Amino acid sequence: MNILVTGGAGYIGSHTCVELLNAGYDIVVMDNLYNSCEKSLEAVKKITGKDFPFYKCDMLDYEATEKIFKENKIDGVIHFAGLKAVGESCRIPLTYYHNNITGTLNLLDIMEKYNVFNMVFSSSATVYGSPKTVPIKEDFPLSTASPYGSTKLMIENILRDVYGANNKWSITLLRYFNPIGAHESGTMGEDPKGIPNNLLPYIAQVAVGRLECLSVFGNDYPTPDGTCVRDYIHVVDLAIGHVKTVDKKSNEPGVHIYNLGTGNGYSVLEVVKAFEDACGKPINFKIAPRRAGDIPECYADATKAKEELGWTAERDIAKMCEDNWRWQKLNPNGYNG
Ligand code: NAD
Ligand code: WQD
Repeated sequence: MNILVTGGAGYIGSHTCVELLNAGYDIVVMDNLYNSCEKSLEAVKKITGKDFPFYKCDMLDYEATEKIFKENKIDGVIHFAGLKAVGESCRIPLTYYHNNITGTLNLLDIMEKYNVFNMVFSSSATVYGSPKTVPIKEDFPLSTASPYGSTKLMIENILRDVYGANNKWSITLLRYFNPIGAHESGTMGEDPKGIPNNLLPYIAQVAVGRLECLSVFGNDYPTPDGTCVRDYIHVVDLAIGHVKTVDKKSNEPGVHIYNLGTGNGYSVLEVVKAFEDACGKPINFKIAPRRAGDIPECYADATKAKEELGWTAERDIAKMCEDNWRWQKLNPNGYNG
């Protein structure tokens, strides 16, 4: 089976390419490299010993995207491509709506034209908004609090309508919790541009000396130590979740929805401690005011993925931090170091 991986040079996409190739799938990768670089794909080739076509292509460019389908027999698409920074999406919402929505509409149109009806879509726990209870199940009410989150929910709804109109489609919405960690080779990992917005890359850059001090956003939440609780999941476990989805759900008509999380919640201070254990030195941090939009607790009920996909996350928080630190230590300036 030949899978088109959109956004395949990015953080989650590149790790998924490794697991797809290791599982025996063929892949074609497309990415405009807006938030990534081709070195991640060189690492994929080195780790797997396999080659694959790469198209430096923007999904907003209909003809260039269609060319991929003309030149390759594609059986299914894993759709990672998109802009993903919550704060930035509030500053430039139109860019986010245009890129994520228009890009996806182009892709879906081309897929229908070429009779490709298998799609796995990167959704997010952000579509649960501010849940009333945790752990979060797939049938919880949906809402969003940022333009980024709205693009995810809108695309979910578009995909439901696409299936409603043509039930040849097999669509899987994977709602990721908080992906962290890196490939254990230390050759692939998250490489954010500029100052990181997310917790793990920020901690890692403090540990390696690129940043001075972590601000812990709020210690007065109704959680055991007052800091926010999240479901951090190793990016390799997440990648394997995509392979299991393709194994089990390809060509099964419907709209399938799964949470991909560990089911465990860790507080910001617990993550700082786990990272200190991994890197063997203290992380300089200070308590800062709450960050607008943060919710106290967010973690998954991942039972459905276990029962229906045969998937569970296997790597614990110590392993996530260990692999994250190896990547950061070996590549202090990311891929362009
Ligand atoms: P990433 O930025 O590393 O990867 C996304 C890739 O898409 C990048 O390589 C980028 O260059 C590419 N891209 C963006 N717009 C494009 C376009 N118009 N045409 C072609 N390529 C384009 O992000 P990631 O963390 O790997 O996330 C992958 C997907 O998972 C995204 O859709 C994101 O919204 C979703 N997601 C991420 C997280 C997270 O915390 N990392 C959580 C939930 C969901
Ligand atoms: C985690 C915790 C912060 C940075 C985001 C998106 C979500 C999904 C995953 C895409 C929070 C705290 C953070 C810092 C801190 N992405 N923190 N100091 O906000 O849970 O989720 O990424 O779909 O949609 O919203 O992740 O890593 O930003 O924050 O104290 O410098 O760490 O307050 O409690 P978040 P995060």
